[in-house]
Amino acid sequence: MSGSYRFQDHYFHRAKKDHYLARAVYKLEEIQNRHRIMRPGDRVLDLGAAPGSWVQLASGVVGPRGRVVAVDVKPIEHSFEGNVTVQQGDVFDDAIVEQLLRDHAPFDAVLSDMAPTTSGIRSADSARSSLLFERALVVAERALRPGGHFLAKIFHGSEFHDLLVRVKRRFRRVKVVKPDASRKMSKEIYILGMEYKGDI
Ligand SMILES: C[S@@+](CC[C@H](N)C(=O)[O-])C[C@H]1O[C@@H](n2cnc3c(N)ncnc32)[C@H](O)[C@@H]1O
Repeated sequence: MSGSYRFQDHYFHRAKKDHYLARAVYKLEEIQNRHRIMRPGDRVLDLGAAPGSWVQLASGVVGPRGRVVAVDVKPIEHSFEGNVTVQQGDVFDDAIVEQLLRDHAPFDAVLSDMAPTTSGIRSADSARSSLLFERALVVAERALRPGGHFLAKIFHGSEFHDLLVRVKRRFRRVKVVKPDASRKMSKEIYILGMEYKGDI
């Protein structure tokens, strides 16, 4: 068995055993343990949330006084705790975003694990991922309270540097994170913006 298969297997089985919907949860768990981007009572917006493992983790962290709003183009089938609101829709749909902001903003944290359907052509995939990242940032700029946090996935590519600069302009502390639970071979990486500066 190759190293990467063993790796895939390890997190897959661990997620099953822990009753998580996807192994992606261990990436958020690692970042949460290190940076405490969510706290009890927080309101969290999760973009690209299906099948819902990040929602499960976030729902547990924010607890009954908090709320997690989960959005995905795909249906999210799982029935979560009562502090979770699920909305099916495309983040590029302005009507969906306006509705979310009206009903639930301000948020303490905005998360995006959104990923494009990959074509295998690296430059095309990273360009699509950058568009998703940029959209998540635009939504976060409207949804976050000052002092709130932003975590979003991006496939490393030519747009990465400019987007990192944009995040640095809007957040007091910024980190680039490659969780251990993310495959070493994969181009995915997370940009974490902490302490949103608010309107400038
Ligand atoms: C890697 S999965 C997310 C896994 C999730 N964090 C979990 O733990 O279960 C990426 C998701 O992004 C969603 N996505 C991609 N483009 C989107 C868009 N334009 N609007 C909303 N969701 C999108 C996909 O449908 C997919 O479910």
